Amino acid sequence: MTSLWLIRGVRPYGEDPVDLLLRDGAIAEVGVGLVAKDAEVLDAGGLIALPGLVDLHTHLREPGREDAETVQTGSRAAALGGFTAVHAMANTDPVADTAGVVEQVWRLGREAGLVDVAPVGAVTVGLAGTQLAELGAMADSPARVRVFSDDGFCVADPALMRRALEYVKAFDGVIAQHAEEPRLTQGAQMHEGVLSARLGLAGWPSVAEEAIIARDVLLAAHVGSRLHVCHVSTRGSVDIVARAKADGVAVTCEVTPHHLLLTDEYVTGYDPLFKVNPPLRTADDVDALRAGLADGTIDAIATDHAPHAMEDKECEWAMARPGMLGLEQALSVAVEAMIETGLLDWRGLADRMSVRPARIGQLDGHGQPLEVGRPANLVLVDPDVRRVVSSADLASRARNTPYAQRELPARVVATFLRGRPTVLDGKAQR
Ligand code: DOR
Ligand code: ZN
Repeated sequence: MTSLWLIRGVRPYGEDPVDLLLRDGAIAEVGVGLVAKDAEVLDAGGLIALPGLVDLHTHLREPGREDAETVQTGSRAAALGGFTAVHAMANTDPVADTAGVVEQVWRLGREAGLVDVAPVGAVTVGLAGTQLAELGAMADSPARVRVFSDDGFCVADPALMRRALEYVKAFDGVIAQHAEEPRLTQGAQMHEGVLSARLGLAGWPSVAEEAIIARDVLLAAHVGSRLHVCHVSTRGSVDIVARAKADGVAVTCEVTPHHLLLTDEYVTGYDPLFKVNPPLRTADDVDALRAGLADGTIDAIATDHAPHAMEDKECEWAMARPGMLGLEQALSVAVEAMIETGLLDWRGLADRMSVRPARIGQLDGHGQPLEVGRPANLVLVDPDVRRVVSSADLASRARNTPYAQRELPARVVATFLRGRPTVLDGKAQR
């Protein structure tokens, strides 16, 4: 099957307008005044083109919690958010700790056909933190797993973490750590600080995150392996990663959209929509996260898209599950936090939301520059509109967005996966 699209007058990375010709899954021509007989034409005047976004951290909930999200519904949410690839976290039921489960998730992704779904493998059997999972078998499976994580839980045992780091060196894999010293967060409900004291909620101290990151960069340096830190949320975490990078440690890290925009002030209404792990932090932390993302200490924005069923969120604070949706609003939040503040330009945003996450996850064909011969994975964004988020309009099966009723900038108009539109005029194509 052939496909031929002529995208007229689009601004790659927000720069000068050009035409893009997409043929057979690749960018075939870039130039002004292109003509192509039989091409489908998309007039993209005023739109910005970026390489398709890549998410390092998505919870798709299948298998096991299809009432909260499925690979199909999560893939639609991702495509609508401008993503062409997502990493599906391993904390499913059953856990993605064998070649069989990761292959199943990978196949479901192919069937949905809207984004490339790259399964993350669990580090330990059942996420129990005691026995290493079959990392090699998952790496060798058709799903070609390269990212391993017990996300939701920390690999707290330092000996196990060391062995995992050593093991993945054989296939240049990476351990993505959910950095949380469990002994310091027992019963924790929100960020530990002035507000937790006033609200009477048990605190989740910054040091519980920072202590694990400090330990793990030392372990990664010791064994000469690659460490990725999930959802860094504190100023101290950014400082530790900056120091490790300066020392030459192979460490990368990510920040979520919500940690770039929201603070622990939102907890004052006790609305579980704002309960998340790691918790929303202070305005000073938000400033440090934005600065760290701008200067490259933080490599990537990753959504930590965490869909939850209604009964797990519409309950009292202490009973509610942590986590919030992210895929559909990630780009808009990034524009508000990073572009509108002048901290990043569009090329910088493409680097943090596509180029670097694709490299960290070793996804060939994603995060490539918009130039002739590259795979036609791209997103077209209208930067000039502002829209009020309505949770009723989400493609996700879940409704737990923290952005409901909030006005955010920018809109994904189209997404192309290997030259075919997965989203056109803001609507998913499957
Ligand atoms: O808030 C969170 N939700 N943090 C995690 O680490 C896991 C995630 C989930 O799976 O819901
Ligand atoms: Zn996590």
